[in-house]
Amino acid sequence: MSTLIQNGTIITASETFKADILIEDSGRISAIGRDLHAPKAERIDATGKLLLPGGVDPHTHFDLPMFGTVSSDDHYTGHKAAAFGGTTTVIDFINQDFDSLKQCVDAWHKKADDKAAIDYSFHMNIVNFNEKIAKEIPSLLDEGITTLKIFTAYNGVLRIGDNSIFKVLRTAAENGMLTLLHAENGDVIETLVDDALKAGNTSTEWHALTRPSWGAGDAILRVAGMAQAADASLYIVHMNTAIGADMLKYSREQGVKIMGETCPQYLFFTIDNMRQPDGAKWVCSPPMRNKTDNARLWQAVERGEMQTIGTDHCPFFFDGTQPILYEGQEIAISGKELGVEDFTKTPNGLPAVGDRLPVMWTEGVVKGRITPNQFVAMNSTNPAKIFGMYPRKGALLPGSDADIVIWDPERKVTHGVAMSHQRTDYNLFEGWELTGYPEKVFLRGELIVDGDEWLGKRGEGEFIKRKEGEIL
Ligand code: URP
Ligand code: ZN
Ligand code: ZN
Repeated sequence: MSTLIQNGTIITASETFKADILIEDSGRISAIGRDLHAPKAERIDATGKLLLPGGVDPHTHFDLPMFGTVSSDDHYTGHKAAAFGGTTTVIDFINQDFDSLKQCVDAWHKKADDKAAIDYSFHMNIVNFNEKIAKEIPSLLDEGITTLKIFTAYNGVLRIGDNSIFKVLRTAAENGMLTLLHAENGDVIETLVDDALKAGNTSTEWHALTRPSWGAGDAILRVAGMAQAADASLYIVHMNTAIGADMLKYSREQGVKIMGETCPQYLFFTIDNMRQPDGAKWVCSPPMRNKTDNARLWQAVERGEMQTIGTDHCPFFFDGTQPILYEGQEIAISGKELGVEDFTKTPNGLPAVGDRLPVMWTEGVVKGRITPNQFVAMNSTNPAKIFGMYPRKGALLPGSDADIVIWDPERKVTHGVAMSHQRTDYNLFEGWELTGYPEKVFLRGELIVDGDEWLGKRGEGEFIKRKEGEIL
């Protein structure tokens, strides 16, 4: 059955125009234009509504074991929450838990494939590096994985040395792959955490106080220098600081092939949120900073100095001893309460995958900070381009997957845990009054969200084998 969405206003990364969209049985868009004639198609009237390409979230962590527990959204519940928020494609990070990368990839497919309810892909974390891994990296391309993440923090756990980072960058460049960087200074953090614990400074705010902002600046500049020497492209994930934004801008001006992603949480919240009695809700790495950082990050978003908005969605319960109801079943998963006595034991991460588009629309577009086209560029088109999925994803074009959000720019909601469908007991944007929200969400032509109704299914998400991306 084909579907004709009529009379909507299409918003792309560069244009706004009124048109109909015809979706064929194949799940692809077959035509876009005024007054399309398709007598056999099912008709949906989108008068007064906006038509956006489904969001692409380049940064999620579903079903991720860490801190003796596991992130509380799996590849079904997280996908469902994403869809309710207008996101139809996500890219999750594979842990390097086994000797061979192939085993790691297979393990992540095993977690995700039967659960996936929207389309998805994977990045590969490189937390152990040697000659054998270097030789195996090109084989990831056959798996449709074209991106590697490295860390300059989490000493002794995820961090690899600078010599290895340079070799990863070189291997990536030789194979048309993109390297993603978690930029903090692991050595400074290690020492400051030791000092804090010895001094009895165990409260939540110390998570941020032991991770100084300049660590992001020095790590970005250092690895940008290595990328330049390796002729590699680099993407800085979850950017949280003014100095990081400055270093990104500087490196781009010097011709380094470098791009940046920020996340909603870093645009709104500060270390003061971590000082509240429920401050553990904001614990993630890198941490919340201050108002100057918020403002500089907004400026980078507004000016296009930053290319994408991801979420780094990695939720935990605030109180994992108390069950919540999810799809009629009680569930409780250990969470932030693990760190009540000691901030180093608080699971790092927070929920955001379903919040990103609605929050960014109200705070970005409605408040006049960005245009609707910038909104689409940063939340959908740019991630699709950078991560090698464009124009299948991130676009409303004939031939693109019909991942379409019918967006109601007038709908007013009080956002929060109930609206967002994330499987956790809190929402950072609880009580925020939002204007503009998804009304219907299509995944490859299938209606998966209709107002408050969930029509998606486990296992209907498709793994997207990605190709080499673009440098924006
Ligand atoms: O606190 C966070 N962000 N947890 C997820 C892991 C990461 O570094 O992205
Ligand atoms: Zn990270
Ligand atoms: Zn992350």
